Amino acid sequence: MENKTVYLNGHYLPLNEAKVSVLDRGFLFGDGVYEVIPSYSGHLFHLQEHLERLENSLAGIRLANPHTREQWLEILTPLLDANFDQYIYLQITRGVAPKRDHAFPDNTPATVFAMCSAIVPFAGLNNGVKAVTMDDSRWKFCNIKAITLLGNILHRQEAIDQGCAEALLVKDGYVIEGAASNVFAVIDGVLFTPPKGNDILPGITRDVILDIARKNNIPCREDKIPFAALQTAGEIWVTSSTREIIPIVELDAKQVSDGKPGPVWQTMNQLFQAYKKSLS
Ligand code: PDD
Repeated sequence: MENKTVYLNGHYLPLNEAKVSVLDRGFLFGDGVYEVIPSYSGHLFHLQEHLERLENSLAGIRLANPHTREQWLEILTPLLDANFDQYIYLQITRGVAPKRDHAFPDNTPATVFAMCSAIVPFAGLNNGVKAVTMDDSRWKFCNIKAITLLGNILHRQEAIDQGCAEALLVKDGYVIEGAASNVFAVIDGVLFTPPKGNDILPGITRDVILDIARKNNIPCREDKIPFAALQTAGEIWVTSSTREIIPIVELDAKQVSDGKPGPVWQTMNQLFQAYKKSLS
């Protein structure tokens, strides 16, 4: 096991010395939230947006934010190495309660954990990957970045078992997001992504892409994508902080267009890479 330095409850220590109690509510109940924040050349990408989403996730589970935005920056910075592209994993749980009880404990400090890992360029970036659609089996608060990820895990594993890289989740006849990504589709030349709401995670990568599209006159809309429209879409992408913008070239065992990453993806990926460089 790599023995890098991690942050736990006010201390920086080697990963193999970072320990939490079995009574931690994250362990017992999955009672916590998290963030994944990329860092390019030592600069945290859209940190304010990630911290704003963290605040919303904490409010969503009624857990007080243990730190100000300035304190978060101070906590995370020592974990970064400017020589590598990395991502921070940050997790906050409702802490170690005296006993296992579903009700919130009184006066229990939150458990705060953060670690940094290398961003390994995703193998499917340039040639695209396969995806499979399935009915969304998750809960009703998918806008909260909760550590309780069993639904997402089962969807992702089902996709992998079928030889695919991602599951695209369908709800009430509309595709809404991936198991660990947001979804985009190019339909009749317009870039679509589902609107924000309780049923999707408001992805930071998603917002950056919409912003880039608007600034570069790429027609785009935040609107529902019917499953039937997805099946005939010219391009489909999934997006996330760690994998960036991944073209889907095969959906449910059928080619998407000619089975190659499409021209809108080529343009957007170039613009996205240039934007990343401009910030670091
Ligand atoms: N997941 N939707 C879901 C369900 C996700 O888990 C993620 C990211 C996204 C994309 O959000 P962003 O662009 O802010 O990374 C959408 C992270 C990477 C994870 O769980 O590891």
